[in-house]
Amino acid sequence: MTTASLEWTPGAAQIAREAGAILREFFAKGVETEYKGEADLVTIADRTAEKLIRARLPELFPGHGVFGEEGTRDRLDSEYRWYVDPLDGTTNFAHGHPQFCVSLGLEHRPAGTAADQDGTLVAGVIYDPLRDELYTAERGKGALLNGKPIHVAPATHLAQALLSTGFPSRKRHASPNVHFYHEFTLRSHGVRRAGSAALDLAYVASGRLDAFWEFNLNPWDTAAGILLVEEAGGTVTGFSGHPYRIDSREVLASNGLIHAELVALFADLFAGRGLSPIPTPQQFGLERAKSGI
Ligand code: IPD
Ligand code: CA
Ligand code: CA
Repeated sequence: MTTASLEWTPGAAQIAREAGAILREFFAKGVETEYKGEADLVTIADRTAEKLIRARLPELFPGHGVFGEEGTRDRLDSEYRWYVDPLDGTTNFAHGHPQFCVSLGLEHRPAGTAADQDGTLVAGVIYDPLRDELYTAERGKGALLNGKPIHVAPATHLAQALLSTGFPSRKRHASPNVHFYHEFTLRSHGVRRAGSAALDLAYVASGRLDAFWEFNLNPWDTAAGILLVEEAGGTVTGFSGHPYRIDSREVLASNGLIHAELVALFADLFAGRGLSPIPTPQQFGLERAKSGI
């Protein structure tokens, strides 16, 4: 495939690199943290990068809509809509932890698509400015990392898999994910919690992870990464194996080969089956005290 046959990703990549340069500069200087919620952070870097992306997208793609995490809602009735996360991994960023990215996903919504109906994800760009890693995909044209084709990993069993998940920064007490985290940890090579859902999805696409799941995501977190995983040969659904929708809050993405095993485990855990017994902190504390620590 030649770059000439790519319609959207060359332009979007240029914008993601410009936004990434802004993030890199703020990261080097350090930024003040502001709070959108109890543990939901935002910084001047998120806002400045979104401002740049909001201005640049219509220059390269006149008429396209833009739906951004930091409030942009432009031309949402148009045939094409960009989902923009100007900085995915803000908590990492604010702590000087080097794992974050820019994520731009494009949905095609032909005339007649109802407001509550999905269009088709047609392009995705994720840029990690610290590693200078650019992930791109257009529907039907494969997924690339810095211009080279990428594929999902070959693991055929959960027991051989490296996984990743994330935890919400809002309504934290309502999330059951720690139970899933625990069970998947016991049954795999481990579960990473790296703090950037978009990069987690890019890592599934590039075979650095075998699967990723999370309960409470937004379209700006997932739109680009979902297409990357699919174009790299993987599978993306909800936890019951049902089709993924752009506004699905839950996402289960894998290399495809272990997907049925993951869905079966979700079903078991939701039904209260298959939970591995482990000591409570109190039980452990009593044993610990007995051993004289
Ligand atoms: C967050 C990150 C994190 C995930 C959270 C997201 P943000 O996005 O993707 O990995 O666990 O659910 O909200 O706030 O850094 O853009
Ligand atoms: Ca995000
Ligand atoms: Ca963000």
